[in-house]
Amino acid sequence: MPLVQVLLVLRGAGLGLSLRPAMTAAYASVRPGELGDATALANIAMRVGGAVGAALCVIVLSRALDATGPSVGFASAFLALALICLLARWQPHGCAAASSDNTKPPPASKGRQTDETATASTDLHLAVIIGSVRGGRFGPRVGARVQKCLAESAINADIIDLADLTFPPTMGEHLDVASFATRISRADAILVVAPEYNHSYLGPLKTAIDALREQWQAKPVAFVSYGGMAGGLRAVEALRAVFAELHAVTIRNTVSLHNPWAPAADPDIDYPDTAATQALAQMMRQLLWWADALRAARQHVPYPA
Ligand SMILES: Cc1cc2nc3c(=O)[nH]c(=O)nc-3n(C[C@H](O)[C@H](O)[C@H](O)COP(=O)(O)O)c2cc1C
Repeated sequence: MPLVQVLLVLRGAGLGLSLRPAMTAAYASVRPGELGDATALANIAMRVGGAVGAALCVIVLSRALDATGPSVGFASAFLALALICLLARWQPHGCAAASSDNTKPPPASKGRQTDETATASTDLHLAVIIGSVRGGRFGPRVGARVQKCLAESAINADIIDLADLTFPPTMGEHLDVASFATRISRADAILVVAPEYNHSYLGPLKTAIDALREQWQAKPVAFVSYGGMAGGLRAVEALRAVFAELHAVTIRNTVSLHNPWAPAADPDIDYPDTAATQALAQMMRQLLWWADALRAARQHVPYPA
């Protein structure tokens, strides 16, 4: 009998956990482009899951009391509760881990709400720029991986592939520039996926950055880089100087993929590895923290550029 009860609890806890991705995926499909709402909903799903688990505990307890008497009944209930607590504390590894902290409010500051409804990122917008354009490029593979990680964390993003945009060499007015301006304007956070070309980043990315000005100001920018042994880090360092000039705030952490081509092409290898995936999750937490803080600051006082 206790085994059946334990299985019941496990099934209930599993149901609770499985609610989370299902609900966030459903939400993301209805409201694409919304960054934080899905994570807030995911937390509700987790709580619903917890409630389901708790209800099952009660059922287990009453059944056990009926069938086996108080001592076995209380022991079963205790075991059930311990299992639920263990599962509630369990955090998925990798990118999915980023979502758990995304909706935490930032540290309390004067004049800001700190209750649970004042979540950090309930309506933040993230733009991901794919910063390479050549035929046969590797960039979209990295971009797809980043997008998958973000989706696992219930983070939706506006993916801006520079290969889809044509910027005029004269830096004049152009529909693509206008649309790029609108998308960056809307973004509270920007993630740039950039390879290294001749110890820097490539020209079309610079053209795109130069095409805008105030849209970058007081916004946080993070990087996922790739390249040879240096993993594209020289491109990132060059980009930091450019974004500083534009009053953007670059995130200290970087996700850097060195020589990613062979492992990424091997279907038997889970690429990027756990370390890179966790690095992305941590960097996303930092990016979203800054996104929330800077958006609040921009709303409070216009940025004095
Ligand atoms: C013109 C050119 C210059 C490059 N220079 C470097 C370099 O300085 N350092 C490096 O690590 N990789 C360098 N690479 C390798 C690129 O980082 C690599 O090919 C990467 O996949 C390019 O991104 P993409 O495929 O998305 O265009 C260079 C590649 C090209 C095409």
